[in-house]
Amino acid sequence: MSDFKPASASHTVMTELMIPSYANFSGKIHGGIVLSLMDKVAYACASKHARGYCVTVSVDTVDFREPIEVGELLSLHASVNYVGRSSMVVGIRVTAEDVSKGVVRHTNTSYFTMVAKGEDNQPREVPGLLLETEEELRRYIEAIKRIELKEHYRDAFDNERSGLNLDAQLHLLEGRRCQLAEGLFGQEGRRTDK
Ligand SMILES: CC(C)(COP(=O)(O)OP(=O)(O)OC[C@H]1O[C@@H](n2cnc3c(N)ncnc32)[C@H](O)[C@@H]1OP(=O)(O)O)[C@@H](O)C(=O)NCCC(=O)NCCS
Repeated sequence: MSDFKPASASHTVMTELMIPSYANFSGKIHGGIVLSLMDKVAYACASKHARGYCVTVSVDTVDFREPIEVGELLSLHASVNYVGRSSMVVGIRVTAEDVSKGVVRHTNTSYFTMVAKGEDNQPREVPGLLLETEEELRRYIEAIKRIELKEHYRDAFDNERSGLNLDAQLHLLEGRRCQLAEGLFGQEGRRTDK
């Protein structure tokens, strides 16, 4: 397959009113509701680009910096930022609108990696991405940088973990809000508290 599709062909916006049943015990919108909507819009966007079934493979960090209120109108804007062979990185920008005041605020942004699957349930090649604007070019390059950084982080962490010596790392506990339970390391206690 060697065709290319523009991001504009799969750009997807989903809008949902934040109703009281979406609230948590403190009356703010439950984070899981927002995550579920993000997953849905990522699926809609990726499956439009791939022209078929996709699965979520990876979700980048989602930071909820501000609470979302009951009564706000949530809009999720999704675009394919990057395409590999079978994978697509979908960027999702979430905004919340206070409809009574007409004020729109950006609540969070995240990146979902989706993979297209064929009828045999195996990853299948998707169309390439036709970059039409400077912003799309920037998003594509930023996605490559994020992928490289994730690979670097994964390798570095695997390396750290494989050689991890707990004794040698106990200094990391200093000043942290934890305490070693009596006998955790046997009679000769290796403790940070003196
Ligand atoms: C994702 C999945 C298809 C990968 O299968 P696989 O046999 O490892 O296939 P591949 O190694 O060929 O990977 C396929 C693509 O996924 C990408 N991928 C795999 N793991 C990834 C990860 N952790 N983060 C980002 N991309 C990933 C690969 O880079 C590859 O991309 P490319 O085709 O664009 O080069 C498989 O792990 C799967 O089906 N997972 C379950 C997904 C699911 O059910 N999601 C819903 C969760 S409830």
